[in-house]
Amino acid sequence: MKVRFVTSNRSKFEEVRKIGDSYGIEVGWVEKEYMEPQGGELEDVARISAEILANEVETPFFIEDSGLFIHALKGFPGVYSSYVFKTIGNEGILRLMEGIKNRDASFVCVIAYHDGESIRTFRGEVKGKIAGEMRGGYGFGYDPIFEVDGRTFAEMGDEKNEVSHRRRALEKFFSWLAKSF
Ligand code: IMP
Repeated sequence: MKVRFVTSNRSKFEEVRKIGDSYGIEVGWVEKEYMEPQGGELEDVARISAEILANEVETPFFIEDSGLFIHALKGFPGVYSSYVFKTIGNEGILRLMEGIKNRDASFVCVIAYHDGESIRTFRGEVKGKIAGEMRGGYGFGYDPIFEVDGRTFAEMGDEKNEVSHRRRALEKFFSWLAKSF
């Protein structure tokens, strides 16, 4: 089975392709940037983006939207994760967290699948902590500062794909997809 994934992010595509392999699903890459509305919930962002994209991309396809939610910062950066990464980055987040004892955070991934008629979303979440400093050389984005069981995603390499928010959302999506064909 083959399904198209629209993203401009090569690292995301590589992760999704590898996870797809383990489910016997071939993931094709539509390399494309698109506008994401800001605010609301990740589900709203993913749904609206998929609806707009359906005018430009052949269906069926899927997209995904992720966000880092830091508990002590009341969920910040959340749906603003992309803008915050581009502006203050990992150094900025570590500075905001200086002196804060509660390091709990969640990474959330929402997949939106457009079949040509309707959109279905799938959500995956992993609980972790904001590290005290950046560690690790793999991955992208917030990977060097997001820890699960004492190791950052950037220290895990491909092992990230066994526990990540993206893995958990894809697990739901791919098993639904396999059943519905
Ligand atoms: P978006 O889903 O591309 O909007 O992601 C929001 C922000 O979170 C971007 O800055 C990404 O680089 C970052 N991000 C998304 N997924 C991950 C991940 O798996 N690890 C680390 N950072 C991520």
